[in-house]
Amino acid sequence: MSNLDEFRQAGNPMFNDNKFKLGIFGSNCSNACAMTLAETSFEPTFEKNKEIAEILEAAGWECMVPIARWRGFGGPSNFNGNCMETYTWAASLAAVTKKIFLFATSHVPTIHPIVAAKMGTTIDQISKGRFGINMVCGWFTPEMEMFGRKMMEHDTRYEYATEWVEIVEKLWKEQWFDYEGQFLSVKQGFADPKPFQKPRPVLISAGSSGKGREFAAKYCDINFSVIEEEGLDKATAWVKEMKKLAWDKYQREIGTFTYSYAVARDTEKEAKEYYDYYVNQKGDWEAADNICKVFGVESGSYSPDYMDKFRRNFIAGWGGYPLVGTPEQIVDRMLEMSKTGVDGSLITMVDYNQELPYWNEKVMPLLVQAGLRKAPAAAPATAQAAREPAMA
Ligand SMILES: Cc1cc2nc3c(=O)[nH]c(=O)nc-3n(C[C@H](O)[C@H](O)[C@H](O)COP(=O)(O)O)c2cc1C
Repeated sequence: MSNLDEFRQAGNPMFNDNKFKLGIFGSNCSNACAMTLAETSFEPTFEKNKEIAEILEAAGWECMVPIARWRGFGGPSNFNGNCMETYTWAASLAAVTKKIFLFATSHVPTIHPIVAAKMGTTIDQISKGRFGINMVCGWFTPEMEMFGRKMMEHDTRYEYATEWVEIVEKLWKEQWFDYEGQFLSVKQGFADPKPFQKPRPVLISAGSSGKGREFAAKYCDINFSVIEEEGLDKATAWVKEMKKLAWDKYQREIGTFTYSYAVARDTEKEAKEYYDYYVNQKGDWEAADNICKVFGVESGSYSPDYMDKFRRNFIAGWGGYPLVGTPEQIVDRMLEMSKTGVDGSLITMVDYNQELPYWNEKVMPLLVQAGLRKAPAAAPATAQAAREPAMA
């Protein structure tokens, strides 16, 4: 039995038999993934997130992944500047949902693994096994240096993350252990209770560098990566290489996920007009420039055309794969994405609360027809049934 079979056997929604799984990304942060001043009803509040979770559960979406952020990126929107901390966000939603899988996104240098493991267990117990951690090392230097320590060099960050995750896993599975690392040490490690979920809460990461992929292959259940618009062949290669690396080197199975931004409308014209409105007319170009600078993607080294496209895609949805068009066009594009072998995508939208009902009504049935998803289970017939936890 492979490592992922254990999750499958336990009925974990992240490893269910939907061919193309779906989640949303960043609903704990202002503007989520769209760098824009466009009008929106969305706010990163508990009430809005609870409503979003209910809309997602009604149509069988698999998960919600928050963004770990400690300060905004400037510009008139101060993009992502107003945001909810992700463990407490997941805990609050765990208490008011029944089916959706919830992640905390954790900057590993900002929290001790004993605290992270304990908080993770608590959320896993509250949600009856619907919790996972998205481990991130941090790349936005002013954000990480707010914590009073120098940013580690890129590969060192993953060495730190390695010790962090080894301690978290031990706390979830063992008792009374000592751990002596280069960065972290634990004396007589103890944690009770253990997580609800078997074999343990799901671990994901989005490293795309060599070191990041190694980390994912060895410790994570799912690796996330961006798929560029003209990059489906590259994506096919990434999925294949990731699986091969995990299997050949560590005898582990690993899933793969990506993220996409969506504008679904009845006509292509309407979808393109809305894209034009929120990106070209109302985009926060200053925030996008600030992020480009952190990534070292500045105009000096690239052609104006490349820079223009890069910024536009960033503004539209953190550079995710574009899904702009009619429900039929969107499903066609998702079929193409699925052919790469990727297991699913996080979807980003300008206004989740307003746009998700349309997606559920118009896009979801076509995804079922296309064989990418199964029809969601009917709503429980009784109030008693509605109270039953999904994975108890
Ligand atoms: C889907 C996805 C989600 C991510 N979420 C966050 C996040 O919330 N906070 C953060 O600082 N970095 C986040 N990252 C950045 C990654 O952790 C990572 O730094 C980046 O993909 C570069 O990979 P590398 O570290 O291997 O070079 C995310 C990346 C992806 C693709």
